[in-house]
Amino acid sequence: MVASQRSPRRILITGGAGFIGSNFVHHWCKQYPGDRVVVLDALTYAGNQASLADLEDLETFRFVQGDIGDRALIDTLLPEENIDTIAHFAAESHVDRSILGPDAFIQTNIVGTFTLLEAFRQHWLKRDKPGRDRFLHVSTDEVYGSLNADDPPFTETTPYAPNSPYSASKASSDHLARAYFHTYDLPTLITNCSNNYGPYHFPEKLIPLMCINILLGKPLPVYGDGQNIRDWLYVGDHCQALDVVIHQGLPGQTYNIGGNNEVKNIDLVYMLCDLMDELAPDLPIRPARELITFVKDRPGHDRRYAIDATKISTELGWNPQETVAGGLRRTIEWYLAHPDWWQPLLSEEYQKYYQQMYQGV
Ligand SMILES: NC(=O)c1ccc[n+]([C@@H]2O[C@H](COP(=O)([O-])OP(=O)(O)OC[C@H]3O[C@@H](n4cnc5c(N)ncnc54)[C@H](O)[C@@H]3O)[C@@H](O)[C@H]2O)c1
Repeated sequence: MVASQRSPRRILITGGAGFIGSNFVHHWCKQYPGDRVVVLDALTYAGNQASLADLEDLETFRFVQGDIGDRALIDTLLPEENIDTIAHFAAESHVDRSILGPDAFIQTNIVGTFTLLEAFRQHWLKRDKPGRDRFLHVSTDEVYGSLNADDPPFTETTPYAPNSPYSASKASSDHLARAYFHTYDLPTLITNCSNNYGPYHFPEKLIPLMCINILLGKPLPVYGDGQNIRDWLYVGDHCQALDVVIHQGLPGQTYNIGGNNEVKNIDLVYMLCDLMDELAPDLPIRPARELITFVKDRPGHDRRYAIDATKISTELGWNPQETVAGGLRRTIEWYLAHPDWWQPLLSEEYQKYYQQMYQGV
């Protein structure tokens, strides 16, 4: 949306110190410099204030460290900042961690989302239900379960069939966001997107993990036979889609967001290896493909996800712009240029988690 054609918003971005959230905060501050942008983030292991460092001096920007489950905090923050829009990213987001310990996923993803919805509803009621308010709930394609090779991609009407504690908790929060529209008319919108990649991505996730391990000359753990298929969405494309949904989406609606880029995990790792060979001058081991190591599969590992993004394309005119080859190149270039961002994240706690996951690999 062109900034000059709209009146400013006062947006609360939860989870804005995380991967997609921080990309979205950058997107919003650049697109709409007249808007008030308040980030609420608990700074869990996945949150990193350094991802927002260049915005801290903006008068329009405020960072609040806090939990979305803290009702007293939210009840103070919403009127204090006169918030009219919430973009809700805050979540426990890693499937592997949800298998190791689901409790935090239930607490943040379900109870936290409920707390935020209810607090926003009260705030909206007190302000006489402004029609322009929006609550965007950012969710995942994993709520739809797993596809076989020949199945059609997920649409907005695909039945929910979550297979991990993570996806079950996201499914539950989607239902709450939907119910708040149908029961209370709260102007909620839900988006279900495929796997994102790009800058500011925590090292535990597939693409940054592979890039960093290649730089360090460490093995590249690939689950099972590497034949799992994911649809890869460049995070900049995703942020643009969410912008369009906030401005033009119909309250109560769900929009699937995908990259039209289905790739087998092993092929993605090959692409990353080849790009790293090309772009990184001093690799300890080259060709990087030599580092690939197959490891025991994740329990309940979904075979294939694929998104049918026809609805957002036809109704709101959004289409992804980035190819996997182009997006991976941009991502690798970013990681090569920003070791100061990712090196501190390889903490002792992260190493402990890594050992637990990949057991010596
Ligand atoms: N990354 C993906 O590929 C992907 C795909 C589909 C959907 N999603 C969804 O998008 C959203 C953002 O994902 P991401 O990859 O950026 O996640 P992330 O793990 O990188 O970031 C999550 C952020 O939320 C914060 N947070 C966690 N618990 C909190 C709490 N209780 N209160 C306040 N803040 C809290 C963390 O500190 C962190 O900054 C999530 O809701 C996730 O389910 C992500």
